[in-house]
This record gives sequence, C-alpha cells and structure tokens, in this order.
Amino acid sequence: MFKYTQIFKGTAFSSKSSKEVQILQDYLFCINADGIIEKTIAPEHPDYQTVLHTYKGKENFYQLTDGQYFFPGFVDLHVHAPQWAQAGTALDIPLYDWLNTYTFPIESKFSDLAFAKEVYEDLVSTLLANGTTTSLYFATVHKEASLLLAEICATKGQRGLVGKVVMDDPEQNPAFYRDANTATALADTEEFILAVKELAKSTKQGVYPVVTPRFIPSCTDSALKGLGELAAKYDTHIQSHCSESDWEHRYVQDRFNKNDAYALHDFGLLGDKSVMAHCNFLNDEDATLFAETGTAIGHCPISNAYFANSVIPIARFHAKGVDIGLGSDISGGFSPSLFDNARQAVMSSRMLEDGVNTALSADKRGVPNSRITINEAFYLATAGGGESLSLPIGRLQENYTWDVQVIDTKVASAKLPIFDNKEELIDIFQKIMYLVRPENIREVWVQGIKVHERTE
Ligand code: GUN
Ligand code: FE
Repeated sequence: MFKYTQIFKGTAFSSKSSKEVQILQDYLFCINADGIIEKTIAPEHPDYQTVLHTYKGKENFYQLTDGQYFFPGFVDLHVHAPQWAQAGTALDIPLYDWLNTYTFPIESKFSDLAFAKEVYEDLVSTLLANGTTTSLYFATVHKEASLLLAEICATKGQRGLVGKVVMDDPEQNPAFYRDANTATALADTEEFILAVKELAKSTKQGVYPVVTPRFIPSCTDSALKGLGELAAKYDTHIQSHCSESDWEHRYVQDRFNKNDAYALHDFGLLGDKSVMAHCNFLNDEDATLFAETGTAIGHCPISNAYFANSVIPIARFHAKGVDIGLGSDISGGFSPSLFDNARQAVMSSRMLEDGVNTALSADKRGVPNSRITINEAFYLATAGGGESLSLPIGRLQENYTWDVQVIDTKVASAKLPIFDNKEELIDIFQKIMYLVRPENIREVWVQGIKVHERTE
C-alpha cells in the first residue's frame, strides 16, 4: 500500500524548462519521510482516487483552499547577511566608496555576537517570509558569528549555505576589518567548514559551508590558492564576486593581466559548486569557461542597477549554457524579495534590448535578443538557482525537496485582481509573479517542514 509521510493537494507551478512553466493542476504531491517529493499524481492517474481516499481527512493530508497555489521556494544565490543592518542605505554612491564608508564598518560590528544574533535572526525570518527557502550567504570575516548564522538557519529551518568571508590583504582592507593574516584566514575557514559539516548532521534541510574569498581585490594570492585547495579537500561550495564593476574589473586586469574568470580559475575557484555574483563584464570567452567548468552566475538585477553601471546580458550567457540563478545581493540590492528581483530582471533585460535613450541617439537601440520573460525570471529564482548549486531544489517534481510557498491570491489585505473564475492558470501565474506581496505568502515549507506561517 501507499506509505507517504505527507500528502499535499493543489495546483502548483514549476519550471519545465527555462522558458516554459509547467502547470500541475489539482495534483497530489506525495512526500516521504526525508521531505522529498516521492510521487506527483495527476487527477487522471489511476492511483489518484485511491491515494486521495486513503489520506483525505488524516492529519498528514493538506489541501489548498480556493485561490491558493503552490510555488517552489525561492533560491537566493547572493545575500550579504550582515548588510541587512544597512539595507536601503547610501545606494547613491559608487561601490568602492560604499564598501569603505558604510559596509566594512557595519560588517566589523559582527565581532559582537549579540548584535549578530539580532540581525541574523531577523534576516532569516524575513527571507523565509518572502518565500526564500534556500540562501547562499556571505557572513563576515568572523568565524564565530558566521557559525552563528549557520546555526540560526538550522534552527529556523532554512537551507543556508554560509561562508566565512576571507579578506586577508593588509594593503587592500582596512585595519579595523580584515583577517589577522593569511594563515589565520585559512585556518579559520577550515575550522568553520568542519563545524558547519558537524552542524548539518542535526538538520533535515541541510546547512552547508561555503569557501568565500570576498573578491579578488580583498585577497592575497596565497589566500586565493589556499581557499581553492580547501574547497577541493572538503568538496564545498565556493562563492565570490566576479567582474562586477568597472573598478574591480580593471583592478584584476592590472594585477593579473587577465579577466576575473581566468584568475579565479587559476586558483581552483571555478567548478560545478561555484557561484559567482554579478559577472556583468564577462566576455564570451569568460562565459565559455563558466559553461565548461559548470560555474554559475548569481544574477543580482537590483544591485546591478546601482553599482555595476551596466546590464548583464543574461539571455546571451544562458544561450551559451551557463547556469544562472537570481540573487538579492542584500544590501547592494535593497529588497529581500526574489519576486522584486525577478521583476527587475525582466525590466533590466528589456532596457538592454530597447532602452537606449532614443531621443538622444536615434540610431542606437540596444542589443537584440536580450529580453527575458517573467517565466524565465521565475526559472532563475527557482530551478536555475537549484541547478547553480547542484542541489535537487527549485522544482515541484519527483526526487526534489518539498520546498514550497503557499500563495493566497484572495487574502483580504492583498487581494490580487482576479475577477473571472475561468481565468487561464498561466495568466494567474503571471499576475502572482508581478503583483504578489509578502502578505500573500501564507505558509512556507522546507523539506516537508512548515517554517513560516502568516497569521495577520
Ligand atoms: N564586492 C565586494 N564586496 C562587495 C559587497 O559587499 N557588495 C557588492 N555588491 N559587491 C562587492
Ligand atoms: Fe555582493
């Protein structure tokens, strides 16, 4: 007979491909004891009625109400957790000044574990309330506070991939905020990796250590080399910033006489479990290297509008076979919502295609084939993020984790404009993508466990 741990009944949306959304109308999702989707059953399947009658009315049977839909939980590929404390601040100054004047002073305060706890607990709860079930985090240089972030993810039930940030170059980083020296940076990273691996054993959803050179300008050659070796030794994820701004791009060219992508590759920092944030200035050769090594791009469209002074050609890199997901880049991006970032990803891509100021330069009209659709932005926030991390997350299909957001289009405080009972489901999907607010996200589940419920 059937031995499922939980059954969820309702209509769900999931990516079939990067361009196509699959509508699973009134399906049964059968979840096993590990929180994995063991079976999806369509209404026309011969087992549907039997499973329904076996479980209906039982404690482990969960059914959506009218106007509610399952969405996959979002995967945020780029969050600076300590920067939550300054979200929305000083976004009008250039990246280099923003880092030195605002960001490094605030990050340095995370040596204080009480402050770290307050900020990190609030951030993880906020991300869950916004539907983000998996986050790839930069913490700070502090080993203890970075471990605390992983512990908070473990406790709150979010799948957190957490990096202790490495910034060891005394020439490039302020004395008040950097690793004491290269040896301690590497030793702390190794201890952090071991501690998070130990912590992971007590979680269902998993927490993961991530090797995290902040970006090339922060790190000495020996640190970059040592970090590549640690990632290989412990088979960890790797994250950094790559070709984000004009300033950083030029700095790496001056130091190594090559682009970021090749420099990172030389240090063993590209690979299937690597995610590089931004990547605005990748050229075609760099993108090919990303595709060949399985390195993913964490696309941060809101942040890029402020700090990159460019729009990344997402469609072009995708066509070359590069894995791409979406990142909020808190707080270079001000919003903790991947719905907001998905909307910006679409708008920015359209500006790249059409958006040159035609009143000033009538003959220049942007780059053809740059635009992405809202369906593709949904893919970036879900399945694309899962592929980027090489984890079975971001899709509502068999053998993937049950990470979902329950979207309620009829909640009184944020009703969506749906007036026709027979409206096509794909249109409802698009209304959700463009109009949803946190009030509509009624519940969030990670690996079969409810981790957020909205009561007001
Ligand atoms: N490059 C190095 N550090 C940072 C950071 O904190 N935010 C952004 N956007 N870019 C960076
Ligand atoms: Fe960043």
